Amino acid sequence: MSFADWVENNQQHLIDRLAEVVRIPSVSGDAAYRPHVFAMAEWLQNAMRALNIDASLHALGKQTLDGKELDLPPIVLGQYGNDPNKKTILVYGHYDVQPALKEDGWTSEPFELHHDLKSGRLYGRGSTDDKGPVLGWLNVIEAHQQSGQEFPVNLKMCFEGMEESGSEGLDGFIEREKDAFFAGVDAVCISDNYWLTTSSPAITYGLRGLMYQKIVISGPGADLHSGVFGGTVHEPMTDLVHLFSKLVSPSGEILIPGIKELVAPLTDEERQRYEKINFQVSDLESAAGGKITLSDDKVDVLMGRMRYPSLSIHGVEGAFSAPGAKTVIPAKVQGKYSIRLVPNLLPDQVAAICKGYLEAEFAKLGSKNTLTVETLSGGKPWVSDVNHWNYQCGIKATEKVYNQTPDLTREGGSIPCTLSLQDILHKNVMLLPMGRSDDGAHSINEKLDIDNYIRGTKLLGEYLHEVSKVEA
Ligand code: BES
Ligand code: ZN
Repeated sequence: MSFADWVENNQQHLIDRLAEVVRIPSVSGDAAYRPHVFAMAEWLQNAMRALNIDASLHALGKQTLDGKELDLPPIVLGQYGNDPNKKTILVYGHYDVQPALKEDGWTSEPFELHHDLKSGRLYGRGSTDDKGPVLGWLNVIEAHQQSGQEFPVNLKMCFEGMEESGSEGLDGFIEREKDAFFAGVDAVCISDNYWLTTSSPAITYGLRGLMYQKIVISGPGADLHSGVFGGTVHEPMTDLVHLFSKLVSPSGEILIPGIKELVAPLTDEERQRYEKINFQVSDLESAAGGKITLSDDKVDVLMGRMRYPSLSIHGVEGAFSAPGAKTVIPAKVQGKYSIRLVPNLLPDQVAAICKGYLEAEFAKLGSKNTLTVETLSGGKPWVSDVNHWNYQCGIKATEKVYNQTPDLTREGGSIPCTLSLQDILHKNVMLLPMGRSDDGAHSINEKLDIDNYIRGTKLLGEYLHEVSKVEA
C-alpha cells in the first residue's frame, strides 16, 4: 500500500485529529488566550513525539500586549530523518489563529470542528489557516509509517505561534539557528495560503509585506459632553477622520507621496503572466460576497491584489461604537491602518514616510490636540524564482494529485518569515496551498473542504517524493 492509499483509507482519523486542534483556541492577538497558544505548542510537541519526530519547544522571550508583559509562544521544532543521502526540506507553518466568537455570525461554534456532511466541509477557526496544513505534514509522516513506505526526504519542521500577530521574535530565532537547526536545508516549503479560485490548484511564488500603524490623537482630559464642549474645543475624532481621508482615496489610490514611486515597474512579460492566469472577476466577487471590485478588468484586479501596494483602514479604538445616540466627544482615539507592501517597499522605510506625512498633515490642521504615530507590526514582501527545482517538484506533485497544472500565483496576504527564510538561509522558498479561495480565513465560518484536506495531505507527500527524485 502507498502512503496516499493509507491517507485515502483513513480520512476519519485525520479529520478527528483536526477536530482535536481546532478545539484549542490558540489566538495569539489576545492576551487572555495566551495559555491556549502554549497548550497548542505542547499538543504539537506531543503529537510529533508520538510519531518519532525529534521535537522541541524554544522560548522567544517576552512581548508587551495591551499594556501587559507576556511570554511569547515557543517555536516548535521537529526533525524527522537525518540520512545524508536524502535531500532535506524545511517546512514552516503556524499554530496560532485569528480570534473568533460565535456572536460574530458563525453558524457553528468556531472552536469545535463542524463536519457538514452535505457539503463535505470542515468548519472551524484554523481549519484552513493554518492548522489543517500543519497537520498535513504530520499526516504524511504517519501515512508513511503506517503503510510501510520509506520516507523520501529528511524533514525539518518549524511551527510558530505568533504569525497572526506579526511573527515577533522569529527572524532573530532563524538568524541564531541558521548554522544549527537550519543547517543542511536544501529548500523550503510553506503551506499557509489558498488557491486563487475554488477549482484550480495553485502554487504561489510571491506575497505582499505589511506595515501596520496606529494614529493616536488626544486632547481632552476625559470624554466630553458635545452640547457643552462642541464648538469650543479641538476634537480628536474630527482630526483623525481628516487624517484618514489623507491616506487613501475611495478608489483605492494611496495618497501618501513617495510610496507609489518606489514600486518595481511593470514589464510586458509580467503583465502577460497575469493575463494567462485562469481567473475571472466574478471569482473575487463571490469570495468577497459582493459585486464591489475596484475594476472590472481581470488583469487590473489581479495586479491590485498581487503586485501593487494597498492601504486599508481597519478601525478606531476609543470611538463611540455602541448602539444608540450618545452625544460624546471621545477624549482619545486610536486609528488603525495598514499598507500591504510589494517590492521595493520595505516596512521600516514605509513606516518612516507615513509617520512624517501624518505629522506634516496634522501640523497643517492647527489643532491643539496631540498626535503620536506608532508602528505596530511589519513584514517584508517576497518574490521567488519559479525556475528552481523546488517549484518543478510542486508542479509535478500537483499534476499527479489533481491531474491539472497549477496556477502560478502571487498573493496579497503576508507571511513575515518567508523572505527571512529565503534571505537568511539562501534557499528557495515555495508556497504550496491546501485550501481554496472561498475558505474564509480570518472571517466567520472559516472552512476547509475534506477533499482539500485529504488531497492536500497527499499533495504535500507527493511533493516530498518529487524532491527525492531531483538529481543531487
Ligand atoms: N495565511 C495567511 C497569509 C495569507 C493570506 C496568504 C492571504 C495568502 C493570502 C496568514 O496567516 C496571515 O493572515 N498573515 C497575516 C500576517 C500579518 C499579521 C503580518 C496577514 O497577512 O494579515
Ligand atoms: Zn496563516
